[in-house]
Amino acid sequence: MFNITRLSEVLSGGILVSPATARVHSKITKTMTTPATYEEFKRLDMRLDMSRGKPSPEQLDLSRALLDEAGTAGFMSRDGIDCRNYGHVLGLPEAREFGAQLLDADAAHVVAAGNSSLELMHDALVFAMLHGVPDHAPWVRQGEVALLCPVPGYDRHFAICEALGIRMIPVPMRQDGPDMDVVEALVKRDASVKGIWCMPLYSNPSGAIWSQATIGRLAALAAAAADFRLFWDDAYRFHHLTDTRHTTPNIIELCERAGHADRALVFASLSKVTVAGGGIAFLASSRRNVGWWQKHMNVRTIGPDKLNQLRHVRYLRDREGLERLMAKHRVLLRPKFDAVIATFETLLGDVPGVSWNRPEGGYFISLYAPRGCAKRTVALAAEAGLVLTPAGAAHPYGRDADDAHLRIAPSYPSLEEVTLAACGIALSLRRALQDR
Ligand SMILES: Cc1ncc(COP(=O)(O)O)c(C=O)c1O
Repeated sequence: MFNITRLSEVLSGGILVSPATARVHSKITKTMTTPATYEEFKRLDMRLDMSRGKPSPEQLDLSRALLDEAGTAGFMSRDGIDCRNYGHVLGLPEAREFGAQLLDADAAHVVAAGNSSLELMHDALVFAMLHGVPDHAPWVRQGEVALLCPVPGYDRHFAICEALGIRMIPVPMRQDGPDMDVVEALVKRDASVKGIWCMPLYSNPSGAIWSQATIGRLAALAAAAADFRLFWDDAYRFHHLTDTRHTTPNIIELCERAGHADRALVFASLSKVTVAGGGIAFLASSRRNVGWWQKHMNVRTIGPDKLNQLRHVRYLRDREGLERLMAKHRVLLRPKFDAVIATFETLLGDVPGVSWNRPEGGYFISLYAPRGCAKRTVALAAEAGLVLTPAGAAHPYGRDADDAHLRIAPSYPSLEEVTLAACGIALSLRRALQDR
């Protein structure tokens, strides 16, 4: 049993109270026993938003020196580029080289951009829709456009598709990636299937680590659409939670070897490395795709924020520097994941039909409730002041036909808060089962 204070006192303004206040308050802990029933949990009057996988204030503090770097180290890049000025639409050369180290790519094939990789994915799809990919007609002029969406998946990928009118075709997700038999069957005859969302390492939210076999099959896919693309979102490439630093094969090389040199568009960012709203986002792809990107980007912007790129390169230095920082993130994150899983084991271990994964990296835990219970669990948690990701969010169009999947994001709350929250989630789920 663990003890924790009344969170209504701790978080009087909800999670939006200043981190400093929340930390001070969380020192006044250890006065109350863990709630044993949903009613007891509700009486705590918690105010906590766990709907998104955000880094905690402590994680953001790890890179405080990055922000100090800004004004002190000068504006001129290694090659004498004045980073205050316009230009360099593909990014600062040393930022591209840094990205190349991170992504095991050639710097000429890497673009260093603004802060958000999601923005790059959005733009890549917009360019493909409006202008077409190299040597192909715009997707919007080819009739219906569809993307394969391994499920459960990332809700913001699905939001982009929905906003652009791209039909989403769900594909079952396994622990080693999407069900490739289904993928192969779907792309083989249907030229309207233009691509697939991929999260090769520690997928959001299943934690899947895609196997070599899966990745090899994706590179070699015989797709009816000659302009088929892999939207390769490597968001959690360095976000290990265990001693094993898992890696995945180089998709750009594999595609090239399979005769599909332009197939992979690789995205990554430093959002969950340094600061979530101000990192660097990278795109890596074939030389032809980088040229395509540059052509359309030239219309969109006169260049990215090179000052931010410069200070990142100075602060992180190289891949080793980044990995050292990621080890510090792990020290903060791992206990939170362990606490959630231990709480689920204690409170849900005996409930038939309930399961969860134990991710080895990334930002999420998937909790599977018996059919028909996920929405009710989220609603009950919300009634008790705990905001979770909406049930169904990890499915295209928000439609989880089984109403069974819950995405748990343990990163932002303190360890005490997340432990109590896990308890609240488990009690809400048990209550949802009783209510059936
Ligand atoms: C799989 C995945 N891709 C992309 C992002 C967002 O990345 P960025 O901050 O670079 O836009 C997230 C954030 O949670 C994510 O989980």
